[in-house]
Amino acid sequence: MNHLTRRYFAFVFIFLFLLLPIRVQASAPIIIQGAMACETESMIAALTNPREERIGPWRFVSGDYQGVPVVVSVTRIGMSNAAASTVLGIGHFKPIAVINQGTCGGHDPSLHTFDLVIGADSFDYSAWVSQPQMQTASAEDIRFFAYNENDELHYDIKLHADAKLLKIAKEQSKYYTKGKAVVGTIATANSWNRTPGRIHFLNTEYGSLCEEMETHSSAQICKMYGIPFIGLRVLSNTELHGESFNPEAGVISQEFTLMVVKAYYASLQESQK
Ligand code: 5AD
Repeated sequence: MNHLTRRYFAFVFIFLFLLLPIRVQASAPIIIQGAMACETESMIAALTNPREERIGPWRFVSGDYQGVPVVVSVTRIGMSNAAASTVLGIGHFKPIAVINQGTCGGHDPSLHTFDLVIGADSFDYSAWVSQPQMQTASAEDIRFFAYNENDELHYDIKLHADAKLLKIAKEQSKYYTKGKAVVGTIATANSWNRTPGRIHFLNTEYGSLCEEMETHSSAQICKMYGIPFIGLRVLSNTELHGESFNPEAGVISQEFTLMVVKAYYASLQESQK
């Protein structure tokens, strides 16, 4: 091989194996999920060059948010919808991260409407086994469980947010002005709790700060695929203070999420330099 040929091969090697993956990585999007219109519309409106796609019955809008490639995924309501649309979104868009965000109901007595919950972790509070000897159907007579990636039953029920996303969400929460910001557990199920006793049980026994219907589903799928994930929620209601559903919380959640998205992307680019 002469000198020039060697140079040529070295260039092709560097381009294919070093430069190209960095470029592909840099242009891969962040998927931002929301179940309802009030949790997705303002993000969609903020995109430049929006491109609408439907995969089955699920809507995905990809575009550019201030230099960040994103896909807004309208998951629809509930755990099955969240899981299915997360699988499809990951397969189709090959995201670098997934954020599930939107409204929630308060479990912690210190929280009010518009307070922000940064999901350090989440669990499925519909996965439980009850005690055979009990005659009552009280909330306390159950024990939550989960299955891991190897289909083994276990009681370490919480899935943790990606460390970098969590760090950045915490940093950005310093600029959150719509209410208080707290970091902790999100409880997910296809349920809407109105009974203070049951809310109190979830809060005191399992450390749940709020409830909603999608976060843990997406978290599970992202864990299986090894995609960084976090859940971010803004209280739209809390039974503990008689505050009923306010859709404005969905808009506020989107605003905060976009701040996290921008900061996360900037920090990834910084670490690639
Ligand atoms: N309980 C359950 N889901 C709630 N949501 C908002 N508040 C609550 C609550 N208290 C969200 C869910 C779902 C939709 C019905 O509203 O995540 O998407």
